Amino acid sequence: MVRSVADLQGAARMTSVAERTTALNDEQRAAVEAAGTVFVSAGAGTGKTSVLVERYVRAVCERGLDVDSILVITYTRKAAGELRSRIRSAFVERDRPDLARALDGAWISTIHGFCNRLLKAHPFAVGLDPRFRELEDAGAAVLRGEAFERALEEFCAGGDEERLRLLATYRADGLRRMLTGVYETLRSAGRDLMLELGERPPLAEAVAAFREEAASLAADESATASQRGSATEALRTVIDSAPAARVVDLSAHQARGPRAASYELARKAVERSSLEELAAHDRDLLQELLERFAAEYDAAKRRESVVDFEDLQLAARDLLRDSEDVRDSVRLRFRLLMVDEFQDTNGLQCEIVDLAAHPELTEIFTVGDEFQSIYGFRHADVEVFRERRAHASNLLTLRANYRSRPQVLAAVNFLFAGAFGDEYQPLAASAEFADPVFGHPVELMVTDKASYRGTGEHWRHGEARAIATRVRELVDSGEALPGEIVVLFAAGTDAERYEEALRLEGLPTYRATGRGYFGQQQVVDLLAYLRLLHNRYDDVALATVLASPLVGISNDSLVLIRRNATRRPLFTALEKGLPENLTAEDERLLRAFLQRYERLVSASARVGLERLCDEILAAHDYDLAVLARWDGSRRFANLRKLGRL
Ligand SMILES: Nc1ncnc2c1ncn2[C@@H]1O[C@H](COP(=O)(O)OP(=O)(O)OP(=O)(O)O)[C@@H](O)[C@H]1O
Ligand SMILES: [Mg+2]
Repeated sequence: MVRSVADLQGAARMTSVAERTTALNDEQRAAVEAAGTVFVSAGAGTGKTSVLVERYVRAVCERGLDVDSILVITYTRKAAGELRSRIRSAFVERDRPDLARALDGAWISTIHGFCNRLLKAHPFAVGLDPRFRELEDAGAAVLRGEAFERALEEFCAGGDEERLRLLATYRADGLRRMLTGVYETLRSAGRDLMLELGERPPLAEAVAAFREEAASLAADESATASQRGSATEALRTVIDSAPAARVVDLSAHQARGPRAASYELARKAVERSSLEELAAHDRDLLQELLERFAAEYDAAKRRESVVDFEDLQLAARDLLRDSEDVRDSVRLRFRLLMVDEFQDTNGLQCEIVDLAAHPELTEIFTVGDEFQSIYGFRHADVEVFRERRAHASNLLTLRANYRSRPQVLAAVNFLFAGAFGDEYQPLAASAEFADPVFGHPVELMVTDKASYRGTGEHWRHGEARAIATRVRELVDSGEALPGEIVVLFAAGTDAERYEEALRLEGLPTYRATGRGYFGQQQVVDLLAYLRLLHNRYDDVALATVLASPLVGISNDSLVLIRRNATRRPLFTALEKGLPENLTAEDERLLRAFLQRYERLVSASARVGLERLCDEILAAHDYDLAVLARWDGSRRFANLRKLGRL
């Protein structure tokens, strides 16, 4: 729980300090000025990125390096964009608009951006179609699913008994999940496709955890009947000593919706650990299926000239490793190679970076913080960071944190020193803040999960209530306004629970994240309208829009339209004249819709997405319809957010 900053004296001064270009401290200056290859390992907010930016700017302005000869890699596109704009501002500040302009073509990107650019320049050397497209995650999942189906069909085609038994044990879905999962893990690490069965997570523990989740969902009064039904049924069938084969496929016990998020995680954990237990017996057959799947997936991607996330990296690695010409030209081009957020780099990515650097001529500058590694995300591997640090020839650190007050850092140090042990480097505040602190700047509320066992209440529910009560107190006592309080989560899956608890306390909320966001009705409506602008023959989009408050015709009229379209897309029924027998009201609504729709179609070619969303809402008075509901302003805020995304 954090106090509002606005009512503290000197709050305005605090932000201006952070935003001003500032003098480097001694450690930062050492990191900027150190010659040659440097490795900076330092905690959060200590100025790692600032140092990197300064080094870049000095390399260009003082050492005369060409912008084109510096490669900067960071972990996300957003971070790459920020880096670019920080460097650009630094050039502008030094009165070098020419360099700021040159930055447009600079090599500042994610590792994938770098691989993509490299491969676009040399597609033939690795046998890529020069028009190759990057396949986004959702598209890749569809292609993998289809490839797996084909592979499984071939695999079972002979009717061999062992294979059919395998299929019966794991079910098609279980096999797909296991093998595509293994496939991704191995490929992202750049390893051969060999199944190795290592340590297995104990099944009994996973089952016990799942039963606990099921018990609390079954007793959750605000869960739906179907969620509670699934949970009750799961409790009956998934018993503590269940053998792996019995719990390998629990899809029958699936429960949907944010309320069941943690139940679902536990259910999947049981499936995963039983799969691994079973897999030990069937290694050779599984290996064969894995290879067939890989071949099918590969062929599918070639047919469509697409590459997935991992292909980009693997192809770039192969290109740099196997083509001496390309490798030489890359190595001679880059005089300075910098990596921000190095803790999120895995083995394969590290190999690419190494290959791009000339052993003598390229200077490498890496910065990172092992305590910020996103464990397991995109197969990041913090071991790579630790190993490199152990061998670094010039290892530097930064100790002063510029983001938080000493009181906040003291709380962070206290908590994390316990969790990370001796390895943990405590964070120290760079300076005292001029303004005083009132009351407790940090207040810790701890949820004892174990104490909720057997009470029928999920611990998250209790936690949500406790937070809501405390927020209510802060608001009632005048310490903070609701809009000054933010609730942050490690993951958005359970945000709905917390939002609900706050609303029960009568507090207005604005949700910025969570899986529920795109599922909320008003957002679904607007997305459907956008799809419809793109393609009027998208039947699902049209039906959604017509039934939503955007248009709001009756179900009877929808049926008439469906009939009128016979087997053709729904929209054709509106094009050839409206169906007969519509009520006067629905006829009016439909005519108005058609007129506005055509106007928006032509607008969509001219205006940006945000503007377009605004125009859709305005044209259809959706804002009024939404604001009329009791929590209207919150819903409307959601729509505005979609416009900005
Ligand atoms: N010497 C300094 N004096 C004043 N402010 C500074 C100084 N160095 C950095 N800052 C400010 O501290 C904040 C954090 O800096 P920066 O983003 O470079 O840290 P970081 O170590 O990269 O953080 P992260 O761990 O989140 O990546 C920024 O707002 C930056 O402007
Ligand atoms: Mg940083």
